[in-house]
Order: sequence, then structure tokens, then C-alpha cells
Amino acid sequence: MTVRVPAKVNVQLSVGPLREDGYHDLVNVFHAVSIFDEVVAKESESITVAVNGKWSDQVPTDESNLAMRAARALAKHAGRTYGADLIIQKDIPVAGGMAGGSADAAGALVACNELWGLGLPFEDLMEIAGDLGSDVPFSLLGGTAVGTGRGEQLSEVPTGGTFHWVFALAEGGLSTPSVYAECDRLRAAEGAEVPWPQLNDSLMEALGTGDAYSLGAHLSNDLQSAALSLRPELAPTLDAGRQHGALGAIVSGSGPTCAFLAIDALHARDLALSLTTTGAAHTAVAAHGPVQGATLV
Ligand code: C5P
Repeated sequence: MTVRVPAKVNVQLSVGPLREDGYHDLVNVFHAVSIFDEVVAKESESITVAVNGKWSDQVPTDESNLAMRAARALAKHAGRTYGADLIIQKDIPVAGGMAGGSADAAGALVACNELWGLGLPFEDLMEIAGDLGSDVPFSLLGGTAVGTGRGEQLSEVPTGGTFHWVFALAEGGLSTPSVYAECDRLRAAEGAEVPWPQLNDSLMEALGTGDAYSLGAHLSNDLQSAALSLRPELAPTLDAGRQHGALGAIVSGSGPTCAFLAIDALHARDLALSLTTTGAAHTAVAAHGPVQGATLV
């Protein structure tokens, strides 16, 4: 069984006050983009995981691996002991703010559901996904969607066209909890009350009409100042993208990947080239969205 799962960028990430359970209530507009991991599941006695590809040396293959945890959670849900060798082909940056770990977990759920002949409905997979991590349900769903709660309660957003992006990949990842903690620290230092997150209507309209110029103007990420505080060198990368005509430039999720919205596919290709040739980014990848969530291939 082979499942292809996309990366995501958050076109709006509004972070509410810290909750008692350590999470934050969000308005999180997810958008799936055409950078994919592949998860292969093969019959086996026990559950194992192996990782291939660019970032493989940075991914744990022990019990902490989210794909392995996903397979275990699915077997538990089915009430039986199952085995699977999971082989992950990684293309999504690790700890990059693009939900790479969540993608692998979503891929493992779909692949093992098939391999083990469980035939669980999508809703059951979504429920297991929500327990595994806040971004895992969106990796299953794909497309464009508004996430509320921790980000796991999703409603789909129809989009009026394809958007073209460039992602500048940074050396080394950022841990999501430490970026949220930095966000809380910066807010506490400021002393202002944290407002309840609100969906941006102009952004929703831009998505609905497929207006890249308007979408670019309305991109927002409340975690950006925290990511920049931890990685100040990302600020000049964002500036360089704007100078090369990006319609919008933001840190992707908790970072450190930077996302640039381009006018069209050609502009995305040129922008990626400009960012790397000028040294503003080590690696830049063009991609488009929205794309489907975890899909059997
Ligand atoms: O849900 P997940 O395991 O992906 O979350 C990782 C971490 O990100 C959490 O432990 C928490 O520190 C932070 N987080 C948060 N609020 C959210 C989602 C994640 O504070 N809504």
C-alpha cells in the first residue's frame, strides 16, 4: 500500500490565549501544497518504520515516530494486534512548519487501514488523527480548510483556483512547542490582553475567488514574531522574497520554512531561482495548492 500525503502552509494562523491543557485555541486556515511524503505499508509481524530521502537522518525511527504511533493507534482502535513495515519517502522538511510528521501519521493511517483490510470510514480515521496531533486531521483531508479548537476541528473551504508558492527551506528545524512558548513569552512581556482569534473574511474571499494578489495581502501568522525571535536570520529571507515580487511572504506555521505567494507558476519558478542565486535562501522549492490530502496511489 502506498499513500501520498501533502505538506501544508497556514494562510492564516491566529493564536488565542494559552489554555489550561497547554494548547492554544486557534483559527488556523490550512492549505495543502504539492510537496509530498510517501508512506508505504508492507505486511509484517510487528510495526516498524524506516525513512528514506533528503531529511531521513533527522527523523526518529523508534516509538516516538508519529507514523508508528498512528499505526499503533489504528490497531488499538481495531482491537487487534497487527504488524506493518512502514517505509517513508520524505520530501517534506522535518520540523519545518509544514506538517511533515503529521503527513506521515496520516499516510500511515490510510495505508494500514487498507493493508489490514479494516475498512474504517474516513470519520473514524479523522478521530484517531485528532488524538495523534493537532495537524494530523488536515493532512488526511487536504485542500483548504479552517481549523478551530487546537486546529483539529475542520471545515472545508472551496477555493476559486490554484495558488503558486515558493518555499525557502532553512537549515535545521524549529520545535513547535518552543515556538508557541516563545509566542507566550513575547505576549507576556508586552502585557496586552490576547484577543480571541477571528477568521479573516477578506482572506476567505480571496481564497474563494482565487485572487492571489488579495490572498498575498491578507496572509497572517501569529507565530511569525516568535519564529523570527528564535531565528532572526529569517527576516532578510522574507524581505528578499518581497523584493523579488512575492505577493505575500510569511513564516510557514511554526517555521523555519518561509512561504512566498507568487503570481503564477512561471513567477514561482523565477522567484525560487532568485532566492537561491542571491543566497537569500539555501534551498527554494516551487509548489502549488490546494492539493488532495492523504491518497492511495
Ligand atoms: O498537537 P501537537 O502535538 O501537534 O502539538 C504540538 C505542540 O504545539 C503542543 O504540545 C503545544 O505546545 C503546541 N500547540 C499549541 N496549541 C495548538 C497546537 C499546538 O500550543 N493549538
